[in-house]
Amino acid sequence: MKTTSKAKEGALIEEMVAALGDRFGQAPEVGVVLGSGWSEGAGTLLGDAEEIPLADLPHWPLPAVEGHGGSLAVGTIVGRRAAVCGGRVHAYEGRPARELVRGVRALVGWGTPSILLLNAAGSLREERLPGSLMPFSDHFNVNLPDPNAADQTPDGKPVFLDTVGLYSPGWRERLCAARPELEPGVYMGLRGPSYETPTEVVILRGHEGAAVGMSTIPEALAARAAGAEVMAISLLTNFAAGIQGSAPSHEEVMDAARAHAGVAATVLEAAIQFAP
Ligand code: HPA
Repeated sequence: MKTTSKAKEGALIEEMVAALGDRFGQAPEVGVVLGSGWSEGAGTLLGDAEEIPLADLPHWPLPAVEGHGGSLAVGTIVGRRAAVCGGRVHAYEGRPARELVRGVRALVGWGTPSILLLNAAGSLREERLPGSLMPFSDHFNVNLPDPNAADQTPDGKPVFLDTVGLYSPGWRERLCAARPELEPGVYMGLRGPSYETPTEVVILRGHEGAAVGMSTIPEALAARAAGAEVMAISLLTNFAAGIQGSAPSHEEVMDAARAHAGVAATVLEAAIQFAP
């Protein structure tokens, strides 16, 4: 019967929560999921960190994509206790939504009140240059899977989630007041892994999009449903296909992410400082 697999996801998350408590004690103030390229800068920020491979935690889906580290570190950043997860799994790896969000659900279940999601994305606007950073003002979920569907939730019930203010307005305002160069924008989420076509880019631009990427939305929807405050920030690594003649490649994305890791780390630090 369906209830068996439903109950199973909840049981997995309970085991993950127990393991986090056993290993690290009290829950942190902020949980961070690093995306492509964010790991290098973030590694330098954590003081007094305890770090373990995700493989040593039960049921944690292991990142397979280059640029996504495989560990969880708990320590202090700007005086705040933070858990930093070195990578994520993606829908384009063939993973169901419940696996994309299992780590975030475990962090929130542990008692983490604020979740910060980071990624690399393509710029849909000429004025948003590669190397700039974009806090999410909102998203448009083109075709990423929804973790709040009945067969993806911990208890097997659908969550009819209110998504107004999904990306915490207060958190974003405090961050942008301190870092006025940051311009919030709407993130367009596509499953990938093929990059969008130039025609798709024209359509996405026409629908308010400022950046395009292949992640983050499922985790944001799950974190909100679990009761957390959510913030997401894209590091714009390239112009999306057809803008300024761009033809994105994974190498370009990774090279740009590495090149801009330093500034990304300073924004990460500020985002943690201003977390609710
Ligand atoms: N498109 C989709 N995802 C991305 C891109 C892009 O141009 N750059 C980094 N992630």
